Amino acid sequence: MPATWCARIRGKVIEEGRNVALLLGAANRHPRRFERPNEFDITRHDSGKHLSFGTGPHVCLGKQIAKLEVKWFFAALFDRFPAISLAGDPIWNSNLEFRSLKFLPLTVG
Ligand code: HEM
Repeated sequence: MPATWCARIRGKVIEEGRNVALLLGAANRHPRRFERPNEFDITRHDSGKHLSFGTGPHVCLGKQIAKLEVKWFFAALFDRFPAISLAGDPIWNSNLEFRSLKFLPLTVG
């Protein structure tokens, strides 16, 4: 039976009923969007242009509270352990959609 509806993304036809997986992590590291995309640089002028909270009508409703939680988490961490630093290579989980750490060796000085 022919598809009754489809969308086209960059020339690729997506037929009705097909699943599409959007990889936000990949979008955040796209070289056409960010210079040196694999380099952590909190001072980059467009650092707020990431897609980690989605965008558009279904943007994350908890975005503001999540940003505050992270901000105050790091403020408290660095206040308590001012000399904290990496003590080895991080190990990442293999989840394709959400990048997360399995193991992060740290020394607190
Ligand atoms: C670091 C923490 C978080 C991240 C990275 C995150 C990320 C996301 C992403 C990617 C979406 C999907 C956007 C889309 O469908 O286009 C989403 C949706 C949503 N998030 Fe979060 N989120 C976080 C924390 C939270 C918290 C703390 C809350 C609630 C207090 C929350 C509530 C929601 C809700 C209700 C939606 C659905 C919005 C909708 O479909 O209209 N999120 N979030």
